[in-house]
Amino acid sequence: MSHPLFDLAGRKALVTGAGRGIGRTLAIGLAQAGADVALADIDPSQAAEAKAQIEGLGRRCALLQADVTDLGQAERMVAEAARALGGLTILVNNAGTNIRKRVEEITEEDWDKVVDLNLKSCFFIARRAAEEMKKAGGGKIINIASLMAWSVFRSPHGHTYGPYASSKGGLVSMTRALAMDWVKANIQVNAICPTFIETALTQAVKEDAALYGAICQRTPMGRFGRMEELVGPCIFLASAASNLVTGISLLVDGGWHAG
Ligand SMILES: NC(=O)c1ccc[n+]([C@@H]2O[C@H](COP(=O)([O-])OP(=O)(O)OC[C@H]3O[C@@H](n4cnc5c(N)ncnc54)[C@H](O)[C@@H]3O)[C@@H](O)[C@H]2O)c1
Repeated sequence: MSHPLFDLAGRKALVTGAGRGIGRTLAIGLAQAGADVALADIDPSQAAEAKAQIEGLGRRCALLQADVTDLGQAERMVAEAARALGGLTILVNNAGTNIRKRVEEITEEDWDKVVDLNLKSCFFIARRAAEEMKKAGGGKIINIASLMAWSVFRSPHGHTYGPYASSKGGLVSMTRALAMDWVKANIQVNAICPTFIETALTQAVKEDAALYGAICQRTPMGRFGRMEELVGPCIFLASAASNLVTGISLLVDGGWHAG
């Protein structure tokens, strides 16, 4: 039997970018730990199978369509999730993207695309979600940042991912700020900073032998992470097991920052 501190029965979670990749895997993981889950995505058709899987576990599941960079849609998404699940006590701000270009090639449009999605949307979604969490007496907000919030990786092609690193570094700072805003409201706000994970977002990286090799060589564990390896950290930060933890960024980086 699992430890009761990690039991999410009765918790109500919203996961953004849950159509595929890390978001979908985390949503299923939260449901396996007992939570009802709302899956939100700009393209929710991708999440139909995950919905069936979650319902198969006996949990409530809602599928929501929203472009989270549109603040009206983002706030509506939070309200709809709370309505569908009967409240909201967990938010996973996961939807995110990256653009791989040399610094000289990055346009204002590129910057806005990455920073609006990875940083700005997370602030407004968290703020609206906190209103729902206060009604429930508290909650957990988990922001999916990146190891690039903490260190620069210069790819063999000369990319340092400036907009992405800026957005994820901002997300780590925002995590601390919101943790303090809501520390008395019993809302814990934390971030997870993963290493490179095998998903559609990094498929092109994997197919680039020089880049893939450089990353594996730089990572002490010598490999990319698997999406399932983020589920445990997410359940920890979503559960009563982390009630004394707020404002932190949990590195899940295969040893990147140790050596
Ligand atoms: N894959 C990695 O190596 C890695 C490493 C560290 C952090 N991360 C972070 O993890 C998160 C998920 O990454 P992933 O690899 O699963 O990405 P992914 O591209 O596979 O999935 C992202 C999901 O977000 C959705 N999405 C995109 N724009 C959206 C929008 N405007 N509104 C709503 N949904 C939108 C997409 O439809 C997709 O389902 C991102 O924040 C990413 O920065 C990924």
